[in-house]
Amino acid sequence: MTPEQHLAEVLASYDDSPNDRLAEITRSLVRHLHSFVTEVGLTREEWFRGIEELKRAGQLCTDERQEFVLLSDTLGVSMLVEMINHGDAGGTEPTVFGPFHLEGAPRKEMGESIIVDVMDTDQNLVVTGSVLDLDGNPIEGAELDVWETASNGFYDVQDENQSEMNMRGIFTTGADGRYEIHAVRPIDYTIPDDGPGGDLLFNNGRHNWRPAHFHFVVSAPGYRSVITHLFDSESNYIDSDAVFGVRDSLVVDMASGTCDFDFVLAPEAAAQP
Ligand SMILES: [Fe+2]
Repeated sequence: MTPEQHLAEVLASYDDSPNDRLAEITRSLVRHLHSFVTEVGLTREEWFRGIEELKRAGQLCTDERQEFVLLSDTLGVSMLVEMINHGDAGGTEPTVFGPFHLEGAPRKEMGESIIVDVMDTDQNLVVTGSVLDLDGNPIEGAELDVWETASNGFYDVQDENQSEMNMRGIFTTGADGRYEIHAVRPIDYTIPDDGPGGDLLFNNGRHNWRPAHFHFVVSAPGYRSVITHLFDSESNYIDSDAVFGVRDSLVVDMASGTCDFDFVLAPEAAAQP
């Protein structure tokens, strides 16, 4: 039997699946896995090492730690899923969601600060702009859910010395579509490196830094929500984000203590990928 005949036999075993979508995904996975094994000429030792690394990744996962998401991020898969799910509806470009969003962030008045714990390292930054539709009209009632690390490089959920919901807030636009958020200039930070995700980076000569950024989810009734970032143009890692999230359109100048960025939302109807 040839590898091609063997592949055909495996694929045919899914012919009677009662779940068409599951069968489609499984068959494609099988085709690509077989192709991958053949292409690199995978040895038995390498196959077993891969299995061991997947086992270690699973053992590291907890409610707070998701090693498989880290692997998905650093292999560029998370970003690809965002790209194909956002489709070509137009508006602000999406990027990765990341693992540090929290539901129930405090609602803030426009112009309010998201800083709960002031730190010596803070560089204050005021982020302003508008939420607009594709024709440039302001959107009233748009919500901006924003989160960032404190100026020590850690999110509140990673740092027992920070208050719950430090550097998080939800802002709602008025009739003018404007927003104003008082925050700190974000800083570069590293993603976890003590598991298979970190090993795969370092053993391939890669680093585990993310360029300084804010996270945003911007949404409004009747419009397609966008999950995105704003990146600091002066970051040392703007050209080598460990999770491939940077888009030129999301890079802004934060050096002066203020920055301005307009979010553009596509209508819900245009949103289907
Ligand atoms: Fe982040």
